[in-house]
Amino acid sequence: MAKIQEAWSSRLGVILAVAGSAVGLGNFLRFPGQAAQYGGGAFMIAYFVSLLIVGIPICWTEWTLGRYGGRFGFHSTSGIFHALLRKPWGKYLGVIGFIVPVMIYMYYVYIEAWCLGYAVNALSGRLSEPGINYGEFFGRFTGAGGDGIALHFGLGDVGIFLVLVYLLNFFFIYRGITKGIETVCKIAMPALIAIAIIILVRVLTLGTPDAAKPDQNVINGLGFMWNPSSVAVLDAATGTEVARYPDAAAIPAAYQTEAFTQKALNLWQTLFNPQLWLAAAGQIFFSLSVGFGVIITYASYLRKKDDVVLSGLTASATNEFCEVGLGGLITVPAAFMFLGAAGIVGQGTFGLGFNVLPEVFARMPGGQIFASSFFLLLFLAAITSSLSMLQPGIAFLEEGLGIERKASVALLGLVTAIGTMFVWYFSADLKALDTIDFWVGTVMLFVQATILIIIFGWVVGIEKGWQIAHEGAEMRIPDIFKVIIKYITPAFLVAIFVMFTLKNVFGWNFSFSAPEFNPTAYVQDLVGDKPNHVARLSVGLIAIMTVFSLLLVNIAGKVWAKRDIIEKENH
Ligand code: ALA
Repeated sequence: MAKIQEAWSSRLGVILAVAGSAVGLGNFLRFPGQAAQYGGGAFMIAYFVSLLIVGIPICWTEWTLGRYGGRFGFHSTSGIFHALLRKPWGKYLGVIGFIVPVMIYMYYVYIEAWCLGYAVNALSGRLSEPGINYGEFFGRFTGAGGDGIALHFGLGDVGIFLVLVYLLNFFFIYRGITKGIETVCKIAMPALIAIAIIILVRVLTLGTPDAAKPDQNVINGLGFMWNPSSVAVLDAATGTEVARYPDAAAIPAAYQTEAFTQKALNLWQTLFNPQLWLAAAGQIFFSLSVGFGVIITYASYLRKKDDVVLSGLTASATNEFCEVGLGGLITVPAAFMFLGAAGIVGQGTFGLGFNVLPEVFARMPGGQIFASSFFLLLFLAAITSSLSMLQPGIAFLEEGLGIERKASVALLGLVTAIGTMFVWYFSADLKALDTIDFWVGTVMLFVQATILIIIFGWVVGIEKGWQIAHEGAEMRIPDIFKVIIKYITPAFLVAIFVMFTLKNVFGWNFSFSAPEFNPTAYVQDLVGDKPNHVARLSVGLIAIMTVFSLLLVNIAGKVWAKRDIIEKENH
């Protein structure tokens, strides 16, 4: 008997589910940190260019290919490529669509547990106790202070929250597409937007919280986040640029010596920075969940004539509203008003969210409630994303191995738990998390997105792709996107990938006059003079996962080949 195909129960449901996957920690933590670091307004130009020529085209591609694959009963990237390409190698091209979401889940769920833990600890008053050292709390809670130190289960530890979020994720994924994912997203998405709006109103009405520091007011906070200029720090002897900051006030004391000079940069000079483009494109990928293998799987549960063009655009627009309109106005301006520019710069994504913000909330009237609401908001945003990272794995195991939901949930639970325990134990400096995030959450994402866009534009062919995309569509994609998808997006992706490799692998300073090559820590950790054993183990884990996934795809190929023969005979 043929298995009953799962499907979304409503259009709103699928849009909220895709938007839920997109809206996550990336919107409220990663985005503000990146935008502030690269000069706000200028970053936004690169960001919107990337959205137009990478983000939205790949979204449409994934929605279209996903819905198309669903018609043949496939829901995983490998299965969809098998149905689409009809070549023995086709299914292997989709393997990253299994590895990426499963491995990102391994560390993403760990951060999700911090969010829930911080929400509870903020509510209990622990995060606003007089004299609390936020850095110390973060180090112990997350384990960043040393390997194995976070393996505790008290209320002030991450363990209990990690177990809870694991159970929640697998409970909802077990309930399936409509009863699980759709239900959670229909509740969590409006709830998180409401909480974000309340916090935003609070932040924007703070005025000048400390009368003794009139510069630290809401207008300057917004300016710090959005002004399109930046200040370069130059080596006084050679004139080479050593660092950039959004504001002169943000330059650390170490650079305020005679050995360095400062140079104010206008919009064009700020934009002429490959790193800014890398950061903007990377943010678009991470934030929209493109190249994750998630949208393609979600879209495969659509019906044949369900619209993909307008729905895809709506889900992306919802993500942008949450990212730019909410995330971009809360975190950095709030931190600026209480701590000034110097308190923000150099904090990194986690520092900003988990060290700076609790301190900011503690100084705010009603801070305890706002802090716990903020971390609850992060938790809600995270769980709708982490659920989406499990579904491609579940879909692949079920259709590839021919197993039932219980078995697929158990197997995926086991595989992800091994990875999460690895990240949880090897927590010193968040090395394992950071290494997997770099090689899987950044490098593999680029590769997967490039494969997707080339399959759509060149293998399926742009005309046929266009026709499939517009079946049941409620709006037409402007024809200019044919050129964009076929030529510009792949060229942009390749250019970005080459720059990324030059910068992050070879460590080139992008200078022709005084070129320097200093391979980054990601490479030094693996092959440098002083290799880092945790980084090496993490890459080992990625390698094992890759081999394991390829073996599974091979087994799946045999199951699908048999299925193809039976279908042929039946026709
Ligand atoms: N797109 C998800 C986020 O922004 C992964 O966090």
